[in-house]
Amino acid sequence: MRLKKIFPGVYGVGRDIATENSTPGFRVYDERLLRLKGNEYRLWDPRRSKLAAGILNGLKRFPFNPNSSILYLGASSGTTASHLADICPNGWIYCVEFSKRMMQDLLQVTMKKRNMVPVLADANLPAKYLHQIARIDIIYQDVAQPNQAEILLKNSELFSPRFAMLSIKSRSINAIESPKKVFKREIEKLKDYFSVLEKIDLRPYDRDHVLVNLERK
Ligand SMILES: C[S@@+](CC[C@H](N)C(=O)[O-])C[C@H]1O[C@@H](n2cnc3c(N)ncnc32)[C@H](O)[C@@H]1O
Repeated sequence: MRLKKIFPGVYGVGRDIATENSTPGFRVYDERLLRLKGNEYRLWDPRRSKLAAGILNGLKRFPFNPNSSILYLGASSGTTASHLADICPNGWIYCVEFSKRMMQDLLQVTMKKRNMVPVLADANLPAKYLHQIARIDIIYQDVAQPNQAEILLKNSELFSPRFAMLSIKSRSINAIESPKKVFKREIEKLKDYFSVLEKIDLRPYDRDHVLVNLERK
């Protein structure tokens, strides 16, 4: 099998994508591990990760590099955050999660992947975790809350990231209105602070979300 570099730290393997495993032998979510040319790679499942779905659906501007530090809002058990930890081995992935149950699973991952920092906190209250976090380059947000745009703006004001990526779930904001209208209105709220680089529909991997790629103005 041949490896094709797609972005820094992201490889195409046949029809799949993968990241180089920073913790060889360790799996986060039953992903397949491949050994190629003396290195180990973790296949990245687009049905489990909106960022993987976005890459497979044609994301063009990839803001992450090996030195990036990321504020990850809504880390859950660490599926996507663990791939970002592989992609950014010299940076920190600050993983904010407010569910204690999810945090228990996340801790199993952060104990292995040493550049992931668990933060048990509500993303609505960034001042409470400001002291735990150093420089941030990118905010990645996937919280499925009705006030997604507001959460991103509050965090951006405190952490001043150069880029942000936001997964918007229309049904968490308004279950009745058409998803298109909901997406448009949420993105409108961000326009004073961010320019929209790309907006990616995640179907067929995910029916409910769009991934919005943003750069600070
Ligand atoms: C859709 S899941 C995230 C999946 C994860 N991003 C991935 O790709 O691996 C959303 C997560 O956000 C968390 N969450 C929701 N609201 C939050 C908030 N206000 N602060 C912190 N975490 C929150 C939920 O507990 C849940 O684990």
